[in-house]
Amino acid sequence: MSIILLAIPTIFIGFLSYYLWIWTYWRRRGITGPLGYPLVGVFPQTLKSEYPQYLQLKDWTKEYGSVYGITEGTIKTLIVSDIDIVHQLFVKQYDNFYGRKLNPIQGDPEKDPRTNLFSAQGFRWKRLRAISSPTFSNNSLRKINLTVEDSALELLRHIEEQTAGGKQIDMLKFYQEFTMDVIGRIAMGQTDSQMFKNPLINYVKAIFSDNRKHIPLIGGVFPIFAQFFRFFMLKLPFLGAANFIHVNQTMVNAVNNRIAQREKDAENGIDIGEPQDFIDLFLDARADDVHHFGETNGDFSKSSSYSNRQLTTSEIVGQCTVFLIAGFDTTALSLSYSTFLLATHPEIQKKLQEEVDRECPDPEISFDQLSKLKYLECVMKETLRLYPLGTLANSRRCMRATKLGNIEVEPGTMVQVDTWSLHTDKKIWGDDANEFRPERRRYTLIVIIMFRNGRVSSTNPISSKAVDT
Ligand code: HEM
Repeated sequence: MSIILLAIPTIFIGFLSYYLWIWTYWRRRGITGPLGYPLVGVFPQTLKSEYPQYLQLKDWTKEYGSVYGITEGTIKTLIVSDIDIVHQLFVKQYDNFYGRKLNPIQGDPEKDPRTNLFSAQGFRWKRLRAISSPTFSNNSLRKINLTVEDSALELLRHIEEQTAGGKQIDMLKFYQEFTMDVIGRIAMGQTDSQMFKNPLINYVKAIFSDNRKHIPLIGGVFPIFAQFFRFFMLKLPFLGAANFIHVNQTMVNAVNNRIAQREKDAENGIDIGEPQDFIDLFLDARADDVHHFGETNGDFSKSSSYSNRQLTTSEIVGQCTVFLIAGFDTTALSLSYSTFLLATHPEIQKKLQEEVDRECPDPEISFDQLSKLKYLECVMKETLRLYPLGTLANSRRCMRATKLGNIEVEPGTMVQVDTWSLHTDKKIWGDDANEFRPERRRYTLIVIIMFRNGRVSSTNPISSKAVDT
């Protein structure tokens, strides 16, 4: 009995000391930052629905400077908006930061069979990236161009219909429908446009507006229970993941149906033909030289050396699901913000219209003509500079002890870029940093870093040079 009486306060004190030790982590290292509260750190400030985390980070950057530390439960994160440190993090020290910041509730990227490009790290990420990259080659994009164009025409039809008589519309809603339609057709096996008819969109939107903040909180504060909770959460929808489970199951069905269809076609001697969408591209996908990647990066997690050159069915589901989730809100919001900026800057809108009329005189726009729309590219870049999206993904996990600037970074520490502050830093962009000026010529390092995807030298989808127009 006396042992139990002694054990309880000892466990309690041990538990308390552990959390206080983590809570004061940055203070003990002489690094400034908001403390938040014992046990939860700054979670109460970063999980507010009415004030998104990226704005909170921006406020703290104003208060604490371009490098400071926060804790969220047991997660220790260095927040940076210093351009040199960001360059170190994403490019020069890639080998020390080859995973993204994840909450333990998101699963173990080393073990999860459905790990996707977004959550994977090290060898596995390289393997997935090598296999998936061809889906974004010009050749593949050319193949889906007609589908995108068809959905765009459908969008215009809906806009014209619903604005008849001068009625105002909420453009974000229309762009969400458009984005969902394109992703549905190129990544989910949907055969024709389902714009304004696709019930799945409500589930996808709900994933983004989900208010259940207990999920990251449990993962951050009690990481040892995270896997356990995750397991039940994915089995029991009422624990908070109902929308994700539905979307994921829809993807599982789409992939399984396609595999069954292909097998049936093969039995009947029907040629599979050209890939029609991402599912086909993934089913056909092979990485050319996976071992080569592994050998040149021997420092990556030893446990994950992959020789399989094809994606497993689970991985195909994972890739398609992440394309849907990573592509939906980002694309719809980028289109909305650019529309807003063009509407409020008529002179820029006019210049852009002139370019489109000049370069694309025919009603149909070919894939090759798109690359001639240089000013359009500048408009989109400038939109994303002022309204950067998906910025919480601009983060890394330290895998090997190193230094960032003069700060010692320990393995397991997360580093989060405060992209919003970086994108309007007057030292980088000049005094007009807050103005929408697509002509600006300062798209150098930032654009390379942010849009090159940071991780190793992937193909840059957006040219890093601003163009004189
Ligand atoms: C304007 C639209 C988009 C924005 C602003 C955006 C933003 C981002 C950002 C900031 C990252 C993190 C980059 C990094 O860690 O260095 C990222 C990664 C990623 N995005 Fe997007 N994204 C957009 C569209 C899309 C679309 C349409 C898809 C899929 C079809 C997609 C799929 C992904 C994937 C799979 C990753 C992880 C890549 C990797 O680690 O290899 N994104 N995105």
